[in-house]
Order: sequence, then C-alpha cells, then structure tokens
Amino acid sequence: MTEVAIVRLLADAQASIPAIAGWYKSEWAGWFGDTPPEEIETDFRNAANRDRLPLALAAFDKASTLLGACSIRDDPFEPYPHASPWLRGLYVHTPFRGEGVADALIRAACDHAKRLQIPRLYAATHSAIGTFERAGWLGFDQVQHDGQALTIFATRTG
Ligand SMILES: CC(C)(COP(=O)(O)OP(=O)(O)OC[C@H]1O[C@@H](n2cnc3c(N)ncnc32)[C@H](O)[C@@H]1OP(=O)(O)O)[C@@H](O)C(=O)NCCC(=O)NCCS
Repeated sequence: MTEVAIVRLLADAQASIPAIAGWYKSEWAGWFGDTPPEEIETDFRNAANRDRLPLALAAFDKASTLLGACSIRDDPFEPYPHASPWLRGLYVHTPFRGEGVADALIRAACDHAKRLQIPRLYAATHSAIGTFERAGWLGFDQVQHDGQALTIFATRTG
C-alpha cells in the first residue's frame, strides 16, 4: 500500500521522463500511434517548467519510486476549445492504483495552478469520474470524443 504520495515538479525529477513517456505510449497507444518515445520525452522536457505552463508533475512514494504523473496545459483541447487550462494526462502506474495517488496529483496540480494565479482548472475524462468527484471537482458538461462520452470537470483553485 502506497501510504503517502509525494508530488514533485517534473522539473525537479527529470530522470523520470523516459519511464513516464513509456507509460503514456502504452496507456494511450491509440493516441500516440507510431510516435517514437523520444518525441513524447521531448514533450515532457518542454513541460518540465516551474513557473509557467505547460507544467508537469510526478508522484513518488517515500522510497522515491515513481508512481504517476499529470500536467497542466493551456493548449486548446479540440473537443472543448473554449475552456483552459486543463489538467491532462492523469496517469497512475498499474501497481499503485486505487490508493489515492491520483488524488494527490490532482490536489498538487490545483496548488500549483493557484500559485501561478490560475483561478480555475478543467479536466475531461471518462475513466476517472469518481476520482475527480472525490477530489471535489464539479462535472458540468459532456462531450463525445473518439466514440467516448467525456465528462468535463472544473474546479476553483483558490
Ligand atoms: C484513472 C487513474 C488516474 C486513477 O488513479 P488512482 O490513483 O487509482 O485513483 P483512485 O485511487 O481515485 O482510484 C480510481 C478507481 O480505481 C479503483 N481501483 C481500486 N483499486 C484499483 C486497482 N488495483 N487497479 C485499478 N483500479 C483500482 C478505485 O476503486 C476507483 O474506482 P471508482 O472511481 O470507480 O470508485 C488511473 O486508474 C489511471 O492512470 N488510469 C489510466 C489512465 C487514465 O484513464 N487516466 C485518466 C485520464 S483523465
């Protein structure tokens, strides 16, 4: 059981980038298609910022085992283009699911958004509805995307 997830800026944990890129490529194989892992890694290096978006986060346990990741991004999300910025790519590695790691990542993303004076964050999901609800986010709309019904969530960061 992962008792505590420690969430760090990816800027301070860049050695994790290849593992995260590998996870994303296999979790979202349909989206990444033939994209080489190096290209996904480059995207994460570009998100390894401290004081501006895109801003990526990584979660660890007390022994510094990498557990998961997410990002705050302000590039348009095509199925819902009028909202921004987004908590994107929320991912917890399989052995560590169901232990609140996603909640720690979501709460850390809100804290960083608040620090950057971003008043509201959005997320779109079909697979983490309970996770966002438990974190206190409000599901307020739905869109169809790639044959899936995505719930659009929002939260105030302050
Ligand atoms: C969605 C995801 C981030 C949730 O991470 P998490 O840390 O397990 O989150 P939670 O602890 O809140 O658990 C989420 C759900 O998984 C269930 N769960 C419990 N143990 C689990 C396990 N061993 N494996 C998978 N799911 C488990 C929980 O009961 C919970 O179900 P519910 O929301 O229907 O009540 C993670 O499952 C994941 O990375 N999935 C693949 C990528 C994805 O879909 N990301 C969401 C994009 S927005």
